[in-house]
Amino acid sequence: MADQKAPRATTNRSTTPGSDTFKDYISSQWADRPDVLPEPREQAPFAADRRARLSALHPGTRLVVPAGSAKVRSNDCDYPFRAHSAFSHLTGWGSDTVPGSVLVLEPTADGHDATLYLRASAGRDSDEFYANPEIGEFWIGPRPSLTQVAADLGLAARDLADFEAVVSTVDAETLVVREADPDLTRRLDAVVEAAAEQSPASAVGDVTPDDDGTPGRATSADLARDLSELRLVKDAYEVAQMRQAVTVTGKGFTDVIADFDDIVAHPRGERLVEGTFNRRARADGNTVGYDTIAASGDHACVLHWTRNDGVVRDGDLILIDAGIELDSLYTADITRTLPVSGRFTDVQRLVYEAVLEAADAAFAIVRPGIAFREIHATAMRVIAERTAEWGFLPVSADESLKPDHQYHRRYMVHGTSHHLGIDVHDCAAARRDLYLDGVLEPGMVFTIEPGLYFQPDDLTVPEEFRGIGVRIEDDVLVTADGAENLSVGIPRTVADVEAWISRD
Ligand code: GLY
Ligand code: MN
Repeated sequence: MADQKAPRATTNRSTTPGSDTFKDYISSQWADRPDVLPEPREQAPFAADRRARLSALHPGTRLVVPAGSAKVRSNDCDYPFRAHSAFSHLTGWGSDTVPGSVLVLEPTADGHDATLYLRASAGRDSDEFYANPEIGEFWIGPRPSLTQVAADLGLAARDLADFEAVVSTVDAETLVVREADPDLTRRLDAVVEAAAEQSPASAVGDVTPDDDGTPGRATSADLARDLSELRLVKDAYEVAQMRQAVTVTGKGFTDVIADFDDIVAHPRGERLVEGTFNRRARADGNTVGYDTIAASGDHACVLHWTRNDGVVRDGDLILIDAGIELDSLYTADITRTLPVSGRFTDVQRLVYEAVLEAADAAFAIVRPGIAFREIHATAMRVIAERTAEWGFLPVSADESLKPDHQYHRRYMVHGTSHHLGIDVHDCAAARRDLYLDGVLEPGMVFTIEPGLYFQPDDLTVPEEFRGIGVRIEDDVLVTADGAENLSVGIPRTVADVEAWISRD
């Protein structure tokens, strides 16, 4: 591809021989590789259906959905590559996506033609093969052939070099998933801007609505919104992946409990919690869907404690918020708060039971047709009632629940639920009408995760409550006539949690 950047290795690190003799030698005497074509992967027809739904939303418009590239961590080292969620959703390509690939939906008379552009394998006669640490086969492994990818994903596949023809013909009406590959977005913008300079009439760009108030041309923001909304209701493949992600996540929690003796003995026990969980993620899935939160003692009062450098003490609670992301990139998002000793103290149990009551009350109302907001409202009523009963609020629970009061939210500042799927906070660009103010439909998957967090220096609560943080988070599927708690098999009642840990 024309914009292929030079490898980042500096001359200080480059010891690859450059002689013609070496080049000839390393390019020769390799066995042919048979181009064995796989059967289409299980998700291929589901991805085709998602593309058809997207196509129907944008007739006549070219859509560009890049996978993105690895992001620099420092100098010439990258973070592990992870394809953009919209790209994976529309192609079915997950952890094995070739970085830099781009899906293009080209409009036709009756829909769109989908083409996947990816960097074709370099021949053994190229110096990329052995001398390019970023993409060379000797360095990061061989790439699949175009025909293999086409068979695997059930999609037309072309060399990324051919994508240049798309780049050179983008116009202001082309819609792009802009954040997926910022370098590519800049290149596409430059082409559109150059065309606009030559012919100002075409320089309308992403405008909606039109000046006269009629709905205008769709924008890339509209595309992002539609891609989020396409995922609000999961298909059968996605639901099966979510079940699998939850199952292996449960195993990760069990692994951590089995290591509690070592964890307590270690000066950075939280790191061992993270390490043990992440080992399970690597073994049974792709990786973790977000940074594991291993928050012991009063670290549990920090909602996103990911530093994980604290000691884990017998007698404390440890809040573990973690989820395994599968090769398909679907992730679970589970929180369990565990007594490290295996037994809750009286005050720990009191707080835990209140959070569990809030979670159960919220789950009990979930069914098609109710408002998403009601889940949070139901959990908050329990949180307000319990904290009022304990004397922590300056007013009654009813008063506190009034929109302009909300005293109880001091102890739970976060929301109760978010959609979950290929992103841990899935569907983030969906319209408020369909998400926060939306109505539940069968196939939606979201978390229910109430908590109570009494900061170590909170003077509104008695001393014995200070430094206790509890969150219980489950992953819930809306069914035809109710709901299923996908993570109900991961112990969550006091008795079941104590039996699960049982360190005596
Ligand atoms: N699991 C982290 C969160 O939902 O924010
Ligand atoms: Mn969550």
